[in-house]
Amino acid sequence: MTKGKSTSDPAARVAELREKIRFCDHKYYAESESPISDFDYDQLMKELESLEAAHPELATPDSPTQRVGGEPLKEFATVRHELPMMSIGNTYSPEELREFDQRVRKLLPGEKIEYVAEPKIDGLAVALMYEKGLLSFGATRGDGVTGEEVTANIRTIRAIPLRLADAATSSVVGAQHAAPNPSANELHATTGAQHAAPLQTTTPPARLEVRGEVYMSFDSFRRCNAEREEAGEPQFANPRNAAAGSLKLLDPRITARRGLLFFAYAVGVREGIAFDTQWGLLASLAQFGFPVNPHRRLCASIDEVIALTKEWDALRHTQAYQWDGMVIKVNSLDQQRRLGATAKAPRGLTAFKFAPDQEVTKLLAVDWQVGKTGVLTPVARLAPVKLAGTTVSNATLHNIKEIEKKGIRIGDEVVIEKAGEIIPQVVQVKEQHGVEPILPPSQCPVCGGPVEQDPGGVYVRCKYPLCPAQVKQRILYFVGRHAMDIEGIGPALVDQLVDAGLVKDITDLYSLTAGQLAGLERMGEKSAQNVHEAIQQSKSRDLNRLIAALGIRQVGTRAAEVLARRFGSMEALAQAGLNDLTQVADVGEITAGLIVEFFARRETKEELARLVQAGVNMKSLAPRPAAGGPLEGKSIVVTGSLKNYTRQQIEEKISALGGKPSGSVSRKTAFVVAGEEAGSKLDKARTLGVKVLSEEEFDAMAR
Ligand code: IVH
Repeated sequence: MTKGKSTSDPAARVAELREKIRFCDHKYYAESESPISDFDYDQLMKELESLEAAHPELATPDSPTQRVGGEPLKEFATVRHELPMMSIGNTYSPEELREFDQRVRKLLPGEKIEYVAEPKIDGLAVALMYEKGLLSFGATRGDGVTGEEVTANIRTIRAIPLRLADAATSSVVGAQHAAPNPSANELHATTGAQHAAPLQTTTPPARLEVRGEVYMSFDSFRRCNAEREEAGEPQFANPRNAAAGSLKLLDPRITARRGLLFFAYAVGVREGIAFDTQWGLLASLAQFGFPVNPHRRLCASIDEVIALTKEWDALRHTQAYQWDGMVIKVNSLDQQRRLGATAKAPRGLTAFKFAPDQEVTKLLAVDWQVGKTGVLTPVARLAPVKLAGTTVSNATLHNIKEIEKKGIRIGDEVVIEKAGEIIPQVVQVKEQHGVEPILPPSQCPVCGGPVEQDPGGVYVRCKYPLCPAQVKQRILYFVGRHAMDIEGIGPALVDQLVDAGLVKDITDLYSLTAGQLAGLERMGEKSAQNVHEAIQQSKSRDLNRLIAALGIRQVGTRAAEVLARRFGSMEALAQAGLNDLTQVADVGEITAGLIVEFFARRETKEELARLVQAGVNMKSLAPRPAAGGPLEGKSIVVTGSLKNYTRQQIEEKISALGGKPSGSVSRKTAFVVAGEEAGSKLDKARTLGVKVLSEEEFDAMAR
């Protein structure tokens, strides 16, 4: 197809590389095929990156190299959807589907009605605006009227084209009749695009808003949760929450790593393009390069739809993603329009929800697991039972309040369900045989120490900070990738270290010798050396990592970074009072209180002293704000796009002059620097009467 690297014209080679990469992305994400190896793909990407670096004039925003870029945001802007993103009614039985069909027929007497059935994938709905074929912004559904603008994150999703592919005949007004509309029984519809996404040859629509579902596969969900567990962060309950959480991260670099996927299924605003049928619309979306669910089916009657509910209920368990129902849509878009909508939902659409996977089994016992902060979580031990393909013998009972609410007793027959098809949970009592109530333990099941109930009566905590279970969790958190990032230390090794009495708290890690490590079971000499080295290397980690690693409640990686930058040393942070802390952007009163309380504890002081003694770095390596600078103590918000600075550059300048860059406007904000297209923050500044400066005015002040 190409002459490969021999092409001497850089512009031609850049175009060729982009085309190849888009082709691979499309094949992989829309058609589940891998045309080349990961290695070869990376080579193409690297070559493109270096060519673009050498020839900046060739860089374009829709280049595949431009997916992850820019700095973390402080907050998302809100967008008002030009056309609301409505919700849809639900049905749960064949009878309800027939009622839906009857309502439709009554409103369209004598007309022929076809339905498109689509898998209902459990993720979150987004709207993607393409102007003249280029992705201009992406937003979440939000409440249907306004959503959050998450363009930077959307761009990282490789399943989403940055530019509409050449949709050939179907991309011009009126030509959509050419879109395929195969017979009702055509199963396994292809995505419609048989070719690569080539260079645009036809005129793209002036504006096209593509709507669809961002979702996460079970594999990515598991990986994401495993990483979070390692980092001591709370787990996502299901892939839907994980997808939503990942799309709403302020740092697109993290979103990019979460492996989000996408299926397109509708359009909103459209200018310069029209569609006749839902079936044709899906084919056009596929031709534009979007993944469209391959199981979609055109049905000639509601009976066909009902037959499909059974077929799909079995099929969905074989998929790599959570598929929890189907969406049934009147095929003719003109009929959909004439059917109109109720206050909540269009009349031409409905969802059919599959019954969740449930089983009944006997609750044999309840164990209490101890977490990092001492919280005891009840875990049900069950008579083993098959549920959606795996044997389940443990399930979460969440907390004591839930147990009381559900009236669960040991010995009961209980209903269990897989939340997000992965983590089983006890949903309710099926038959009450048990007499023994489930009571929170009066002492910690691991250390035997005292426990206390939190004031809300939801959590029970082990009060003994040296409880081995808590110590283990804290060590795992400390060494986690988002904290001190010490490679080679996982749950099994931590168990061994604590059980052997070699490590009683995090500081003991630093006095471990390679010999002690090598003496542990299943630990070879070489691995012992590697672990020892990794621990030693972690001593020079930057302050923000150490702050995050200490496990101060409510202080995650982001707050740790801000605190490190602001205070510059652990000593200064430890001495900070409530007032100093609440001045810091992103630190509220509750967090400030928790920080002060943490550093006031004797154990914290002792622990920090031991870390200092071990030679662990306690200073911020990032540039410090200047004392006595012209902006000293001032909280400053930057919004909109600036001409002469990137966001990071202006924030560094503010810091260097002693000011505090902040993400949100409040009465405490000294002033707002507003660039082009400033949005909600500028509005807020005006509402609160906060001073607003242009970029030039800021420069004059900062001189
Ligand atoms: S159409 C007017 N099609 O389900 C609403 N929605 O229960 C148009 N969903 O908000 C939505 N797969 O998040 C549609 N093939 C599909 C879908 C789908 C999943 C989600 C979507 C929507 C919710 C409605």
